[in-house]
Amino acid sequence: MTETLQFKRHRRLRSSKAMRDLVRENQVNKDDLIYPLFVVEGEHVKNEVPSMPGVFQLSLDYLAAEMAELQALGIKAVILFGVPNEKDELGTGAFVDQGIVQKAIREIKDKAPEMLVIADTCLCEFTSHGHCGVIHHEDVANDESLELLAKTALSQAKAGADIIAPSNMMDGFVAAIRRALDEAGFKNIPIMSYAVKYASAFYGPFRDAADSAPQFGDRKTYQMDPANRLEALREAESDMEEGADFLIVKPAMSYLDIVRDVRNQFNAPIVAYNVSGEYSMVKAAAQNGWINERELVMEKLTAMKRAGADLIITYFSKDVAKWLAE
Ligand code: PBG
Repeated sequence: MTETLQFKRHRRLRSSKAMRDLVRENQVNKDDLIYPLFVVEGEHVKNEVPSMPGVFQLSLDYLAAEMAELQALGIKAVILFGVPNEKDELGTGAFVDQGIVQKAIREIKDKAPEMLVIADTCLCEFTSHGHCGVIHHEDVANDESLELLAKTALSQAKAGADIIAPSNMMDGFVAAIRRALDEAGFKNIPIMSYAVKYASAFYGPFRDAADSAPQFGDRKTYQMDPANRLEALREAESDMEEGADFLIVKPAMSYLDIVRDVRNQFNAPIVAYNVSGEYSMVKAAAQNGWINERELVMEKLTAMKRAGADLIITYFSKDVAKWLAE
């Protein structure tokens, strides 16, 4: 009976670990990882974020040790988020020379000059209302917000940031920032645009970590509707035209179709942002003993690579670097 059956033997290529290693199509590398850091004012501050076990808000005095740890693990890039002491209507703390992010950039560049410092460029952590721009009539005013965003990017570049990563989803932010950087002589600083950023419930824990929850309303007039796919391509296209060097898709896990669409359409490096809620869900399940954390994390990050991501921003970076070294 079996002798006459015609079928393909796919299991031939799965017969041993060595065979599987030989034919593996995608893998996560240390060089793909970008580690997010939350920096706070004060001294000796190392606050674990309650909804993100293993993630801390750090004061500047901890940054040298943090960089040494990351470099020992082989992690070469960080993305910075600032938690200021004071907030105001305009988010002034985002663009002053003595802002928390500017100070952190200088400290990292002083202690670990080879570390690539990516500055998240947004106002929501610095505004009293928690929105990502200037408020007029209970909504974020696009063009006025662009001016403040360009100022923020410029002050981050002056402080020594290697890459500017605008995340506020105003229309024209890449154009405004590119012009401001070029006019100030920062022609060689790339823009990693949060081109495709959905209005997502997966950002909940981040808003605890960065204290950036909107005080009224939501972000749905500027971040994208999770139901939309073609809109992602329109967003990515305009950012490419305006001069983006990298395209971020965010969140990652539930948006791998979008990562693939953007990968197929554009030839810039694609970054998947494995966001806070995606991290917290895995941590919570792992703490309950319901899943195998290591296998699950590697599986989902590999899926991001398979979907077409070149780089991954993830709170799991340190764990992944350790696992890869074993
Ligand atoms: C700032 C910003 C947010 C995240 C990255 N940059 C929050 C938001 O848009 O509300 C979320 C990151 C995460 O959840 O890990 N605008």
